[in-house]
Amino acid sequence: MPKQNNRKNEHVSLSEKFYEQGVSSFKDIRFVHHSFPQMDVKDVDLSVSFNGLDFEVPFFINAMSGGSRWTGKVNEKLAIIARETGLAIATGSVSAALKDPEQESTFKVVRETNPKGLVFANLGAGHGLKNAKKVVDILQADALQIHINAPQEIVMPEGDREFSEWISNLQEIAEGLDVPVIAKEVGFGMSRETIHLLESIGIKLIDISGSGGTNFAQIENYRRTDQKLDDLESWGQTTVESLLEAQEVVQHAHIIASGGIRRPIEIVKALSLGASLTGLSSQFMHMALEDVEQAIETIQGWKSELASTMTLLGAKSITDLQKTQLIISGQSADWCTARNIS
Ligand code: FNR
Repeated sequence: MPKQNNRKNEHVSLSEKFYEQGVSSFKDIRFVHHSFPQMDVKDVDLSVSFNGLDFEVPFFINAMSGGSRWTGKVNEKLAIIARETGLAIATGSVSAALKDPEQESTFKVVRETNPKGLVFANLGAGHGLKNAKKVVDILQADALQIHINAPQEIVMPEGDREFSEWISNLQEIAEGLDVPVIAKEVGFGMSRETIHLLESIGIKLIDISGSGGTNFAQIENYRRTDQKLDDLESWGQTTVESLLEAQEVVQHAHIIASGGIRRPIEIVKALSLGASLTGLSSQFMHMALEDVEQAIETIQGWKSELASTMTLLGAKSITDLQKTQLIISGQSADWCTARNIS
């Protein structure tokens, strides 16, 4: 790993340092076992399609890397994994390339390595339509993620302090961009009020990215040299709580689940809670940094593990999974009561 003098390098190496420290909220979710699946494993279709985007499998490599020499190399590894496994891939925020065009290559490498795959660009909600078009163009991206990360900015020593224009920026981008726009949290989750607000400005794809995995309050606190904002490390909703908050919209909007998803069973649980797709970041970062060949093999194994688990649930498709009976306990059940979610 490189010497730490760059924010992007620090984010990647700190996410690896804290890898697996988060407590996944999916432990609160259990399935009801029925003894007769009444289908065969070969009947399972893992593909998902929405808004003109066709995914071979219901999980993808979520936004992380690019913006420095080292994270460009990391992006290349992630793109090889995406290409060899058929996964979609998002880059980290391309804003670094808008500030310094020399960094463009550290993002473009994803498209060059993976010319036929689904590639998403990523940008912060502080940007407007002009920059959104630029980053889509740089990557020839199939979609654009706009990250909404107020708690991270607040804890980040050099972070943004002006959030009042975020909604109008998002609306302008959603109305003016030719590719689908995904509004995305970064590990603090979403409330039903946020989700309704996003819908009201025309956003149809929403990544609720909840807590339980990468914790950007923890990462930014670690980077702070002055007083730390420790209490914000437990800020926000878990991924399960956010999916419960999204229940009212899962029938008409497409909810993407991310945050603390590390294993196939958690992918299945997130899909059963209504997500159309799941995104994994730190887990794939960890696997890419360890061994790319092994990562490819593991992911291929996950596809059959997903099909096996779906068979046990009698689900031939991702849509079928959304009809699965779930038992919700612990903190997630308390959340349902407090927020009147049935
Ligand atoms: C991220 N994440 C992120 N998200 C985003 O929208 N733009 C970005 O540039 C980044 N950068 C980034 C760097 C690193 C190293 C990590 C680990 C993550 C957030 C990420 O996409 C996701 O929302 C959270 O990390 C939660 O998922 P995991 O890591 O718990 O699977």
